[in-house]
Amino acid sequence: MSKVSTNVVPISWDDSKGEILWLDNSKIPWKEVSVSSKSLARLIKAIQALEIRGAPILGEAGAYGTAMIANNSPNSKERILKNVMEHGARLAAARPTAVNLSWGVLQIQNVVKNEYKRGASPAEIKKTAIEAAKRIQRENIEATYKIGEHGKKLIHDGDVFVTICNAGTLACDGLGTSTAPMRAAYSDGIKFKVLATYTAPLYQGARLTAWEMHKDGIPVQVITDNMAGHLMREEKATAVWAGADRILGNSTKESGTVYNKIGTFGLAMMARELGIKTYVAAPTSTIDPEHSVKEIKIEQRQPEEVETLLNGTTVVPKGVGVLNPAFDRTPPGYVSAIVTELGIAKAPYNASIPKLLSLPGSMAKLSK
Ligand code: MRU
Repeated sequence: MSKVSTNVVPISWDDSKGEILWLDNSKIPWKEVSVSSKSLARLIKAIQALEIRGAPILGEAGAYGTAMIANNSPNSKERILKNVMEHGARLAAARPTAVNLSWGVLQIQNVVKNEYKRGASPAEIKKTAIEAAKRIQRENIEATYKIGEHGKKLIHDGDVFVTICNAGTLACDGLGTSTAPMRAAYSDGIKFKVLATYTAPLYQGARLTAWEMHKDGIPVQVITDNMAGHLMREEKATAVWAGADRILGNSTKESGTVYNKIGTFGLAMMARELGIKTYVAAPTSTIDPEHSVKEIKIEQRQPEEVETLLNGTTVVPKGVGVLNPAFDRTPPGYVSAIVTELGIAKAPYNASIPKLLSLPGSMAKLSK
């Protein structure tokens, strides 16, 4: 495996204080601020304010948050179980689109239920829940390295990539998801460059992806979202690389549908028009084998994010309405390949994704 690494630790568990520690994404690139708390309300606020964000990190936050609920509970098995189920449901609902948040909560709820059933003591239940959350983080990190190894096969000298939002370490831990193949290829000496789209209205592409790529020494230039079509053609882009917040993985023709940051569908359509690829990278924990398009809720965020620039300048005339969907849906026909830790899936996704999920090590199966 390539020697690629990152120094950023987006989230961790502080054993001595029983607290979750996270790097506040909303302050980057201006400040690197770590925040810690043992309060569930504070954790939910951090998730909703995008201090903690990105699907795989939300999975870790869901797992650590649920372990924290157990740890904060009185030393009664019944109370631990009740709190983990009830407050865990509140945590899982903090953001609706990324499947990983509810997945992470569910993993720890299942651990607690099993511990309860086997007659473990309150102290044992708490300890096992925390250990399970740490294991989930380790597995997430390992998955990013494997995504890097599989995905770098799609990268060649001279490639020009367009990215959206941030599916890097800050969002996914380890090497990130869509950034992992790039990091692995870069470390193998392959020469390519990245055009990171702004990703208005919160600029995760400019603030976070460009910050990560630049730190690593990977050639990156930031472009505004509306420059994408023109620059993809003029700069001879070879692929769009996106992460995912949820990928449908049922056995119908919806399989391979990608929910990702608003703008992904537009980029995928432009890519197809220009004859270039759209690659999506995500761990199998982002694959949702259970739901269909009509059941997925796209998060609508506050109008202020569109009305006002990050510096506080209002750009929308008073009284004019705005729309602010945080994610969009890209149909499978626009997706050239999905890179996971278990390998690369290609169309037809209603065959390739269920096949991936049946492999040993699939994280999607853990929800069952
Ligand atoms: O709203 P955010 O910042 O939590 O959005 C998540 C994302 O960064 C993306 O949609 C990303 O591409 C997938 S999550 C790795």
